[in-house]
Amino acid sequence: MMDLFDLTGKKALVTGGASGLGLAMAEGLHEAGAAVGLLDIAENTPFVAAALGSHGAPAYGVRADLSRPDEVERGFHEIVALLGGLDILVNNVGITRRGPTEEHSLSDWEAVIQVNMTTTFLMSKLAAQIMLRQGSGKIINVGSLYSFIGGPNQIGYTASKGAIRLMTMAMSNEWAARGIRVNAIAPGYMATPLNAALRADPEWHRRVMDRIPMQRYGTPDDLKGVVVFLASAASDYISGVTIPVDGGFLGR
Ligand SMILES: NC(=O)c1ccc[n+]([C@@H]2O[C@H](COP(=O)([O-])OP(=O)(O)OC[C@H]3O[C@@H](n4cnc5c(N)ncnc54)[C@H](O)[C@@H]3O)[C@@H](O)[C@H]2O)c1
Repeated sequence: MMDLFDLTGKKALVTGGASGLGLAMAEGLHEAGAAVGLLDIAENTPFVAAALGSHGAPAYGVRADLSRPDEVERGFHEIVALLGGLDILVNNVGITRRGPTEEHSLSDWEAVIQVNMTTTFLMSKLAAQIMLRQGSGKIINVGSLYSFIGGPNQIGYTASKGAIRLMTMAMSNEWAARGIRVNAIAPGYMATPLNAALRADPEWHRRVMDRIPMQRYGTPDDLKGVVVFLASAASDYISGVTIPVDGGFLGR
C-alpha cells in the first residue's frame, strides 16, 4: 500500500522552495524519496538545498527572480539539468500586496499577477513540454482560500488565486489524456513568520478562530501529506481539483 506514495527516483521542482510552505512541501517530497530542486530568489537557496540533500536523495538550489520571464526560463532549465529530468512541478511561489481596492496601485496589481499567475503559466508550459514527451508528470499549483472566496483588501492576490483554480482545470483538460495530472492545493490560515504580527492581535485571532472548525492555524507540515499524495501514484485518477487544507474553514 505505501508503495503508492513512494517517490523514489522521481524528480521534483519547487518554486519559492527555500522557505515557508514551499520548503515544507519540498521536505515532504524529499522524505517520500524524490530528488528535489529549489528555485528561489533568496540568497540562502543553495544552502537550504545542501542541508536538505545531506541525507537521502539529492537536492539542488538555484537562485532566480521568478518575477522575470527570462529568469523563469533560465532557472527552470538550470534546475532541470541538475535534476536530470522532471516528474513533479510545484508552483508554490507567491506574493501579496495589501490595501483597499480603491487605493490599490497598478504596479502592485501587476507585481502580484506576474509572480502568482504568469509565472505559474510559464513554469507549467515549460514543464509540460518535458512531461508530454515522456507521457507522465504531476503539476501541483498553490492557490489559497481566495481561490474560492473573495479576500478583502488583496484584489490582485484574490484575482491571481482565483485564476489558479481555473488554470488548474484548464491545464488538466488539455493534458490529462496525455499523462499529466494537474491539481492544486489551497492552504488556509497557516502559521508562518509572515503573519506572526496578525496572529498576535487578539481581535484578529478571535475572528479567524471563530471560522476554523479545527480551532487552530495550519502549520507548514500540514501540507506534506497532501503534496506527496498529489505527486504520487496514489492520486493517479485525480486531476483538475483544488484541495483546501484549511482546518474546515470553507465548510463553515
Ligand atoms: N502563508 C499562508 O498562510 C498561505 C495561505 C494560503 C496560500 N499561501 C500560498 O502559499 C505559497 C507560499 O507562501 P508562503 O507563506 O510560504 O510565502 P513566503 O513569502 O513565506 O515564501 C515564499 C518564497 O518565495 C520566494 N520568493 C518570493 N518572491 C520571489 C521571486 N520573485 N522569485 C523567486 N522566489 C521568490 C521567497 O524567497 C520565499 O522563499 C504562496 O503561493 C502563497 O500565496 C500561503
